[in-house]
Amino acid sequence: MSRPLEGKVALVTGASRGIGRAVAQRLAADGALVAVHFGRNQSAATETVSAITAAGGSAFAIGSDLSAKNGVKVLFSALDEELKARNGSTKLDILVNNAAVAPFVNFEGTTEEVFDEIYTVNVKSVFFATQEAVKRIRDGGRIVNLTSAVVRTPVLDAAAYSILKAPIDNLTKVLGQVLGERSITVNAVAPGVIETDMSAAFARDPAMAEAVKGKQALKRIGQPEDIADVVGFLAGPEGRWVTGQVIEASGGSGLTF
Ligand SMILES: NC(=O)c1ccc[n+]([C@@H]2O[C@H](COP(=O)([O-])OP(=O)(O)OC[C@H]3O[C@@H](n4cnc5c(N)ncnc54)[C@H](OP(=O)(O)O)[C@@H]3O)[C@@H](O)[C@H]2O)c1
Repeated sequence: MSRPLEGKVALVTGASRGIGRAVAQRLAADGALVAVHFGRNQSAATETVSAITAAGGSAFAIGSDLSAKNGVKVLFSALDEELKARNGSTKLDILVNNAAVAPFVNFEGTTEEVFDEIYTVNVKSVFFATQEAVKRIRDGGRIVNLTSAVVRTPVLDAAAYSILKAPIDNLTKVLGQVLGERSITVNAVAPGVIETDMSAAFARDPAMAEAVKGKQALKRIGQPEDIADVVGFLAGPEGRWVTGQVIEASGGSGLTF
């Protein structure tokens, strides 16, 4: 079995569940040591780590609430401590910015508290986690951001979430340019509807699921592994010439009017 990420160290935020868990499993299957970050669900993160180790991979869990003021600081001091103990170094190769919240609230219903939480977890913590990660990432490393197809086709019932994914696309372009000198690639993956807790209202409701499939060229509901494989490509050696790009993986959602 090929292990193109042997010897690499990856951090996946929000890897306790959903897409992040599948990404962590994919990177570990490719040979990376994976830091499985979680927010509130330590037991779910432990399940991710157990699944990885059962499959012959290496991983450990680290927790930090990215809605908290010191969330990024807590994350990186836990990461540094664990990596120093395991590797004698705090060096990283791959960062996947995946953790996010997506409250279903329309424009009128969005309170300042809801907006602030989405902004803090989905935008501000991504910016500063990346700033911290860049100090530790070796030249030739990889950054992959999870954005969303909602930047192209916003969901009215998740108004602030839709608006606040757009900065991730721009961050990807800015950092693609800035980090190119160090041969670090920076890309974003934009999923459509993927069956996770976040999209349960769409993906797990039979009528909504039919409506979703009706908008897609490919007639099934996307699964976390559909996204993990795209992230795996970008994070691996074959993604070396792709940077600053937003790659939509949505089964061809809304291709035509
Ligand atoms: N599912 C979709 O249809 C879809 C579509 C487009 C884009 N996306 C994007 O894909 C990414 C993953 O989504 P998903 O569907 O896998 O979501 P999910 O199943 O809801 O999982 C969210 C993950 O983020 C973590 N997280 C949430 N709030 C946090 C906080 N305050 N601090 C730290 N971690 C926190 C959660 O950790 P805990 O459980 O430990 O709290 C969990 O691991 C997100 O960036 C999302 O915007 C998803």
